Amino acid sequence: MREGQIVEKFKAKDGREIIIRLPKKSDDKPVWKYYNKVIKETEFLARREAFVFSDKDKWWNRKKITDIKKKKLIQLFAEHSGEIVGSCLVERNWAQVSEHTGLYGISVLRNYWGVGLGNRMTRHAFSIAKEIGIKMIELDVYSGNKTALNMYRKLGFRKVGVLPKWIKHRTKTRDKIIMYKVLK
Ligand SMILES: CC(C)(COP(=O)(O)OP(=O)(O)OC[C@H]1O[C@@H](n2cnc3c(N)ncnc32)[C@H](O)[C@@H]1OP(=O)(O)O)[C@@H](O)C(=O)NCCC(=O)NCCS
Repeated sequence: MREGQIVEKFKAKDGREIIIRLPKKSDDKPVWKYYNKVIKETEFLARREAFVFSDKDKWWNRKKITDIKKKKLIQLFAEHSGEIVGSCLVERNWAQVSEHTGLYGISVLRNYWGVGLGNRMTRHAFSIAKEIGIKMIELDVYSGNKTALNMYRKLGFRKVGVLPKWIKHRTKTRDKIIMYKVLK
C-alpha cells in the first residue's frame, strides 16, 4: 500500500465525486482540521474538545503512514474537492495474542452523511484488513447513535456487551456498546 494511494473514485448517492485514499504527508495539517470539524458536529465520538495543531504534531500523521507500511493500521480518508470529509480505520490489536483482531472506527462530516461514504470506506477497509490477516473486528458505539448502530448491524456486527454509563458528554451520560464481527 502506497502513501496517498487511491483506493476508489466514485459518485456518492447525491452525485458528488468522492475519492477514497490512503494518508499522505500533506495530510499532516488537514487531518487535524477534519477531526476538529467532525467532533463539533457529533456527540458520538471519543473527543470533546478541539485539538490544537502545531508543526511538532506532524508525527501523528507520519506515524499513521509508517504503521500502514508495517501492516499495523489501515487508515482511509474520503476526499471531496481536495478536502478530507471522512475517515475510517482498522487498528491491529497491539497484543501479540490478539494480532488477528482489529479495532474499527469511522466518521464522516455531517454534510456528507447518508450518501454512502461510511459503507464504502468500511467495505474497503475490511477487505484490506482481510488481506493483511485481520480476521475479527471490534468496535464500540455509544447508546443512542442510531445511524451507526443501523450501519453496524447491516454490516454484520453483533452486540457482545455493554458498559453502562461509560460515556459522559457534557450533561449526557451514555452506555458504551461493544460489537464484533468475523471477516468473511
Ligand atoms: C455513522 C456514520 C459514520 C455513517 O456514515 P454515512 O456515510 O452517513 O453512512 P452511509 O451513507 O454509508 O450509510 C450507511 C448505513 O447507515 C445507516 N444510516 C445512514 N443514514 C441513516 C439515518 N439517517 N438514519 C438511520 N440509519 C442511517 C443505514 O443503515 C445505511 O446503510 P444503507 O444505506 O445500506 O441503508 C456517520 O453518520 C457519522 O460520521 N456519524 C458521526 C460520527 C459517528 O457516529 N461515528 C461512529 C462512532 S461509533
